Formats: sequence, C-alpha cells, structure tokens
Amino acid sequence: MANKKKLILDVDTGIDDAIGILLAVKSQQFDMLGMTTVCGNVSVDAATLNTCKVLELVEADDIPVIKGSATPLLRAPHYEHRVHGEDGIGGALKDVEPKKTADAGFAPDFIIDQVMQYSKQVTLVLTGPLTNLALAVKKCPELIHHVKEVIFMGGVVQGQGNVTPVAEFNTYADPEAAKLVLDAGFPTLTQVGLDVTRKVLLTDERIDAIQNETLAHYIRESTSIYRQRYFERNGLWACAMHDPLAVSLAIDKQLVSTQAFHVDVETKSEFCDGQMICDFQHQWKKERNVQVCTDVDADAFFDLLINTMNA
Ligand code: BDR
Ligand code: CA
Repeated sequence: MANKKKLILDVDTGIDDAIGILLAVKSQQFDMLGMTTVCGNVSVDAATLNTCKVLELVEADDIPVIKGSATPLLRAPHYEHRVHGEDGIGGALKDVEPKKTADAGFAPDFIIDQVMQYSKQVTLVLTGPLTNLALAVKKCPELIHHVKEVIFMGGVVQGQGNVTPVAEFNTYADPEAAKLVLDAGFPTLTQVGLDVTRKVLLTDERIDAIQNETLAHYIRESTSIYRQRYFERNGLWACAMHDPLAVSLAIDKQLVSTQAFHVDVETKSEFCDGQMICDFQHQWKKERNVQVCTDVDADAFFDLLINTMNA
C-alpha cells in the first residue's frame, strides 16, 4: 500500500457508479480508505446495499463502506429509477444478499477524519451529488487545505442537461451542495461533466472485449436498461460511462484535456436550478476554481477500462 494513492470514492450506486467501483478496485492502483455513499440515483440505503454487493462481486468486502446523507442539503431527494432500474444497478445482482453491511460512522465525518489523518495524501472522487463533501466542508472548512485533490462527476458546461434542458443529474439533485463545494476554495478540483462523459460510450463491441466472464456478464446485464434507454433516444445500443471516467482520472489525467475556469451552479431559478455556469471569457473576473474537462481520448479510456477488467 506504501506508494499507492489513498482514495475515498463517494458514490450513489447507480449503474455507472458500480462500474466505477469495479475500475477503482480492479486497477489495484489505490489504497482504498473507504467508499462513502449518498442519496442520489437511489436512496442512501439502496446505494449502500448496492455498493456492498458490488464489492463482494470482486471479493473486496474488506473495503469500508460508510453511509452518508439521506437527503440533499435543502431539497427533497430526486431519484432516477427510470434510468437505473428499481434497485439502482439494473437488477443484475437483485437476488444477491451480501454478507457485507455498512461500517459504523457517517460519511462526512469519515471524510474529515481520513483527510486530516493523511494530510495532502487523500484523493476524493465523487460520482453522486456533492452532499457529503459539502457537509464535510461546512463542519471542517480547513479540510480544503488537507485534501490532495478532488475529482467529481457532475454538470455540463457546453451542452444540454440530462434531467432538465440545462442541468446534469448530480448538480440538479443537490445544487446547494455543488455550489458550496465549488465555492469552498479547493486547490485542485476537477470537473468531469457530460461534455466529456457523453463521448465515452460503452457499446456491445466494447463489452464483448471484456474476457473476465463474471464481470462481462455483470456489466452486460446491469447496463441493459441503461443501453435500452440510450437506444430509445439516440438509436445506438450504448451507455455513457460518466462515473468510470471520473474514477479513471485518478489513475491517468492524460485521458482528458482540462482548462481552468471559474465555475458556479444556479440555485435560485424556476427553470435553471442545477445548471452549471462556466465563465469561459473570464467576465466575472473571479478566481479560476475548477479544472474543467474539455475533451477526452475515448479509446484510451476504454483500453484502460477493458484491460483493467481483464487483469
Ligand atoms: C450522473 O448521474 C447519475 O445518473 C450517474 O450515476 C452519473 O453520476 C450522470 O448525469
Ligand atoms: Ca452516480
């Protein structure tokens, strides 16, 4: 573990969160301090159960799972069962009863404890609404100086939203948390938005390249509903690997191009709540608070994903 990156993965597991978990664990690149769960695609209890199931699938049930916030900071939960299925992971592990259960503790406190214990060593990757990190920063504002880096999947800066015409799900589900995290002053904050995640499409061909039968079977089955939905909208059997792309950047930043901008999130609008606004022309004259992913090498990402699953 000595020279492995210390990682906390914050998830609302979720079909694509689950594949992000598989990537993080199977890559063997990380000293996994823990998985923290949050209300998002599904309830925090369902996200926790799904996380435990996925960890058991890859015999990684020694990784701590700590349950987090059951609601967004101020709003009611907005679940996405239409996209992720009744259980949140496309029904692929619906009959599995994991032995693993959540460990004691509350995710925001766990994040604070670990980051302060391992100052400047912990990478945080967040693939759900930013509620847990927002709560952690509220309780311990100096946390920002002790995190190594933060990478989050959320928002879209140049395209359409996936929940409303302008908002991506994670920033829509808890816009106040997203705003708080963006405004907190993290020295290294990378945003992985729909602008790039829509370019990493898991197709049948790519699933066929996974030779590990257990994982290929799981990924094919769990993404079936997700790919069906994409087909209905776009005429192609595929689904976007939003959350795995965020995880992959903790392994290899060269997969994307980034540019620093000032970024904020709308919280007070009838039509635009959850919209991410990127000040491309520096018109607000505010500090550039986010490394925005502007492009991705999709083939290189899938090489990493598939090779990791086959390792
Ligand atoms: C994000 O929202 C969720 O549905 C996915 O898990 C991903 O984190 C994409 O907008
Ligand atoms: Ca997610």
